Amino acid sequence: MSIEQRKILVTSALPYANGSIHLGHLVEYIQTDIWTRFQKLNGHECYYVCADDTHGTPIMLRAEQEGITPEQLIERMQAEHLADFKGFNIKFDNYYSTNSPENRGLSEGIYLNLRDAGLIESRMTEHYYDPEKEMFLPDRYIKGECPRCHAQDQYGDGCEVCGATYTTTDLIEPYSAVSGAKPVRKETEHYFFKLSECIDFLRDWMKTGNRGQSPLPAEAVNKLEEWFEAGLRDWEISRDAPYFGFEIPDAPGKYFYVWLDAPVGYMASFKNLCAREGLDFDTWWKPDSDTELLHFIGKDILSFHALFWPATLHFGGYRTPDKICVHGFLTVNGQKMSKSRGTFITARAYLEHLQPEYLRYYFAAKLNDRVEDIDLNLEDFVARVNSNLIGKYINIASRSAGFISKRFNGKLCASLPDDELELIASLQNAADDIASLYEQRQFSEAVKQVMALADTANEFINDTRPWELAKQDGQDQRLQELCSTNINLFRLLSLYLKPILPELVGQVEAFLNIEPLVWSDSQNPLLDHSINKYKHLAKRIESSQVEAMLEKNKADLAAHAGKTEHSPTRHADKQIAEHPPIADTIAIDDFAKVDLRIAHIVKAEHVDGADKLLQLTLDIGDPDGQTRNVFAGIKSAYSPEQLEGKLTVMVANLAPRKMRFGVSEGMVLAAGPGGQDLWILSPDQGAQPGMKVK
Ligand code: 2FM
Ligand code: ZN
Repeated sequence: MSIEQRKILVTSALPYANGSIHLGHLVEYIQTDIWTRFQKLNGHECYYVCADDTHGTPIMLRAEQEGITPEQLIERMQAEHLADFKGFNIKFDNYYSTNSPENRGLSEGIYLNLRDAGLIESRMTEHYYDPEKEMFLPDRYIKGECPRCHAQDQYGDGCEVCGATYTTTDLIEPYSAVSGAKPVRKETEHYFFKLSECIDFLRDWMKTGNRGQSPLPAEAVNKLEEWFEAGLRDWEISRDAPYFGFEIPDAPGKYFYVWLDAPVGYMASFKNLCAREGLDFDTWWKPDSDTELLHFIGKDILSFHALFWPATLHFGGYRTPDKICVHGFLTVNGQKMSKSRGTFITARAYLEHLQPEYLRYYFAAKLNDRVEDIDLNLEDFVARVNSNLIGKYINIASRSAGFISKRFNGKLCASLPDDELELIASLQNAADDIASLYEQRQFSEAVKQVMALADTANEFINDTRPWELAKQDGQDQRLQELCSTNINLFRLLSLYLKPILPELVGQVEAFLNIEPLVWSDSQNPLLDHSINKYKHLAKRIESSQVEAMLEKNKADLAAHAGKTEHSPTRHADKQIAEHPPIADTIAIDDFAKVDLRIAHIVKAEHVDGADKLLQLTLDIGDPDGQTRNVFAGIKSAYSPEQLEGKLTVMVANLAPRKMRFGVSEGMVLAAGPGGQDLWILSPDQGAQPGMKVK
């Protein structure tokens, strides 16, 4: 079957240059890599490009913290990222940086086109400003007390303790995470892309894409419908100096917001490849291009890729994507990846203890074209790799290869009996189905089908028992036929798994003494051919390797604790926003550590200079008559008079915290969303100060 050669450009989301690659990221790179390798095996002209996402405040501040320039930081991180990707056999045709001349030129050009199309507007806006550091702060850098559970040091977008989501202005006693100063609201001029005017185009694009088909999965279409329903707000695309990024051409002191130039980084990386390989950039990016453009992303960055990006491209004078392939998050052992549980596993920690292709196999066995989270269950990982990959697939070769080398000088038969040819044909005939599963990103189904074929092969081997034949006289020809058949079955399975296991299958090709397999090779059996001596291809995983990896990872996380505090950990911490109030469970022992006591509010007072706090003096029945001093963020709901004399519940063994107004020696419990809707807990009659709450 000859298929027309397609021209396909594929991207994965650009990782931030201030964080390490972890297994959550790898879901995407592995998924994309499998898909692009599959296209290449089919002879298509397919390029996979990516880059480090280098701009923005976090990178600027981290470099400053480390006493180096942002350029030095991004260079170091790029080398680290590249080593990780290489370790997992992610094969980019180009891996570049958003801090490149190509990206600057393309970003400026797009901006100017948008401006000329009347889609850029400048407006006065109000933002948080750090008066000490003299810079505007992204919301991520404002911390304070959670308005719901009163946990300290929470971010402005949500509380990591109770899972509440809110906006920065709801924080109690906000402070700048950069300098500790109290942030002020300050006016500044900003540039907006008038997304509100692109809604008709976007609706249309969402429905029919470039070729009559929606470029988005159904779940994403639903999400977009919701956004359209709510109305699209214009998008602020500028940031004030100091900012590490590109200065806006006609606006000195204003920089492109990192999310403006990040996706342009896809184009820039490709442009860089074009210069190297002599490709024509415009063929791929002009508005009516007949090449294909696909972006693989996680569900947390859908709005950037399904709203801002197509609108920017279309009105900026370029073609739009054909497909946005959206995947879910990674969970580990059924739970959100967590630093404290040590399941926030870095690529490095994995690679130091386990083979990369085992993770590729496991992810493939779980991935499909839907926006679903996938779980890495470590026990299941070990079991599946050992029983399926090694037990079913690799074993086919190890059980037949020895006879071929020892007894037949490495030679496969020149012809096979009809029955065996039929068996081989039944595997050959699966090529199209498996191909269409790969094409549609139904990798889990593809793996399932390949494993079903491996079962067929193993049944054949078990029924024909070559090892018994080997002991009988006069059975040489039959033994050679059987083993040649088995090697052919193994070769086909290898081909079908090649997009997933490129390294392993590379070794298989060396063992079979053949040119690199391509998809069309499925139709020609390997006959009258000498193979090489079989060398062990893959080892089983020992559980101890997984344990060692977790240990190492924990140690690394502990060593780096705090250092990457502001690095956006994609596909991990963004889950807070996606699944709001489901806090992690804690063990009963953890709960037992919390000393809850009935407290008598002896005194309640206003605190000079604090908008949200009341100072409480609490009696918890201390035999020496000692009281506790607690600052509680409940001023919006209570006046001091309402509180004095009441009983409530407090956490008595919270480590004392030094606050601006004094030391707080515990926390009182209150319920409600915040503001006036906040109620302190009060016990029933009969409770006495100091009683333990159980
Ligand atoms: O969320 C992230 O990790 C971003 N660095 C992804 C950027 S993708 C693209 F648009 F550049
Ligand atoms: Zn909270």
